[in-house]
Amino acid sequence: MNPALETLMLAIATDEALAVPQAALFIGAEAHPTLSAWPEITGWQPFKPLATTWDQAGFNRCEMIPDQKWPLVIVLPGKSRDETFAWFAMARDHLEPGGKLVVSMPNTAGAGRFEKELAKATRNITSLQKHKCRAFHVTLDDSWDEAIFNEWRDLGTPRQIPQTAFTVEAGIFSSDHIDPGSQLLADHLPAHWHGDLADLGAGWGFLTDAILKRCPKVARIDLYEADSRALACARKNLAAYPHEIGYHWHDVTTGLPRSYDAILMNPPFHIGQATHVDLGRVFLKTAADSLKRGGKLILVANRQLPYEAVLEANGLLWRKVVEDKVYKILSAEKR
Ligand SMILES: C[S@@+](CC[C@H](N)C(=O)[O-])C[C@H]1O[C@@H](n2cnc3c(N)ncnc32)[C@H](O)[C@@H]1O
Repeated sequence: MNPALETLMLAIATDEALAVPQAALFIGAEAHPTLSAWPEITGWQPFKPLATTWDQAGFNRCEMIPDQKWPLVIVLPGKSRDETFAWFAMARDHLEPGGKLVVSMPNTAGAGRFEKELAKATRNITSLQKHKCRAFHVTLDDSWDEAIFNEWRDLGTPRQIPQTAFTVEAGIFSSDHIDPGSQLLADHLPAHWHGDLADLGAGWGFLTDAILKRCPKVARIDLYEADSRALACARKNLAAYPHEIGYHWHDVTTGLPRSYDAILMNPPFHIGQATHVDLGRVFLKTAADSLKRGGKLILVANRQLPYEAVLEANGLLWRKVVEDKVYKILSAEKR
């Protein structure tokens, strides 16, 4: 159960001002059984596993939000400040006059602070607290401070990481700096890799960029990434390379469609706020299953993560390339 989603559904069920509308837009859509009884709901969800669950529940989903207005827009933000404000602005742009914007988020994600900011911009707000979350809603009228929404809208536009040419967007992994673990891996990549490669959890393309710079004989590289916004940034960041590059909006935990000569990755081990070592383990297993015999793997991980045993259990011979106070680089070969 996602407590923010439960709180949201409770607010809609119990607050008379929030009667089920004829149509609604759900930004950051997550499936809930109650929504099946709604006349029409359109979801937008950039994270592939959640988008798949939404689709499987039979709801309508858009890849890009159409230029359309709704009487109700629901926002279930992630954990990034800029993304949350940008989603408030996105919601505002899709509200019809008199329409309602409902937000729900955990207290640990700063719900109280975001509620106050939204109240400043809209001058009216109703709030419900439950499950250590807050659901709050506002009604669009002429009193809304459009200057604040303009500032928030800007937070959602693609931007560059300072002192680099890399394009990023609020809410994606390492959206304002290069991740130090990824940088350590980039500094220790082999120079002789060739053939078909894959980058698992490729983000906005930092590691693919590094390996293509380091290994001129790479024939093709496939990026697998769950966040569609990160993948869109990767397309821009890698556009100048002449190589064959595949961009896949894909949940790596479901396996890969083909096998590779070499794989590189900085595997995720967080889902939302929580640490999930299992997610990293499944990434390692997917990599092991998708390497050809003799295929190579290189990855970076936090030092304390027990990935050596996972590599061994999946038939890979491994060695530690380097470690610092926080990270280790592991290299492995499929027997
Ligand atoms: C630690 S980041 C590394 C990003 C990038 N490779 C870099 O080094 O900057 C892990 C990436 O995995 C992605 N991710 C998380 N869960 C995923 C899944 N189930 N399938 C594919 N990608 C996933 C995240 O969106 C994130 O971009």
